[in-house]
Amino acid sequence: MEIRRVGVVGCGLMGSGIVEVCARGGYQVAVREVNDDLLKKGLSRVEGSMQRGLQRGKLTEADAEAARGRIRGTTNLRDLAQSDLIIEAVVEQMDLKQQVFGELDELCPPQTVFASNTSSLSITEMASVTTRRERFLGMHFFNPVPVMKLVELIRGLQTTEDTMAAGRRFAESLGKTVVVCKDSPGFIVNLLLVPYMLDAVRALELGIATKEDIDTAVVLGLAHPMGPLTLLDYVGIDTTYFIAEAMFQEFKDTRYAAPPLMKQMVLAGLHGRKTGRGFYDYSEKK
Ligand code: 3HC
Repeated sequence: MEIRRVGVVGCGLMGSGIVEVCARGGYQVAVREVNDDLLKKGLSRVEGSMQRGLQRGKLTEADAEAARGRIRGTTNLRDLAQSDLIIEAVVEQMDLKQQVFGELDELCPPQTVFASNTSSLSITEMASVTTRRERFLGMHFFNPVPVMKLVELIRGLQTTEDTMAAGRRFAESLGKTVVVCKDSPGFIVNLLLVPYMLDAVRALELGIATKEDIDTAVVLGLAHPMGPLTLLDYVGIDTTYFIAEAMFQEFKDTRYAAPPLMKQMVLAGLHGRKTGRGFYDYSEKK
């Protein structure tokens, strides 16, 4: 299973980061968005992140130029058919992901490996709509993808050792450290992270402290780089809400039930940094 060409479905926060690290890692990358506007936004996110990398001396202008030359944007899933590995990074909804993988399964030859960057949904369930359940795995990156060193590799019920080994070689070639996890909701990181973030929202709802003090407590008291409410704004309140809902549906455990304030913020379009406002206001920076 030699991987040279990578297809990425979705060029949002995670998809654009995955495109960037793959292109910088020397892979040819075809990325698909649903329309030209979203594709343009996604590719400009890749460029913005590479500019940050350039400013901080993490890559040279020559590396950046080479990486740009390896990226091809498209709105047609068919353009990903020649990939050796396809990484899906669309919205956290099972029916949508299954639709994408069902279409890809018809377009791609049997040897193409499929991976999902899902944060919480079942790999086995996603793979069930394809004819390649043994060449299907979870490959969960973290935001910001070029900076965060971890990739969780998730073994579906029918994923083979060869597929897991190919996934590991690939992730390590991007400079990531791999941890392996079985197909369980939230895997390792979100199993621990989601209840913690939801508890921070509950603390705010209960008026235990201000949002600033909740965040400051965690940054200075636990030496985290960001407090939980800042992190929620960073990851996306909508994204976290979908992850929590998916985990709640699986576990039926109220630890994963999103507090009402979160649902209201999702409905009001207060999704965090990406919409200019979440718990904090980012409109000036925008
Ligand atoms: N390429 C390479 N390196 C880059 C880069 C790029 N495009 N952009 C930034 N960097 C490097 C910088 O050079 C710097 O490296 P250095 O420490 O060696 O100098 C480092 O990344 C930090 O960058 P910045 O100085 O720009 O930013 P900050 O120091 O303010 O840190 C942050 C920003 C990395 C986002 C930090 O606040 C952080 O780690 N926050 C927590 C993030 C987190 O927890 N992410 C996981 C979320 S959960 C998730 O994703 C799972 C999902 O399923 C929900």
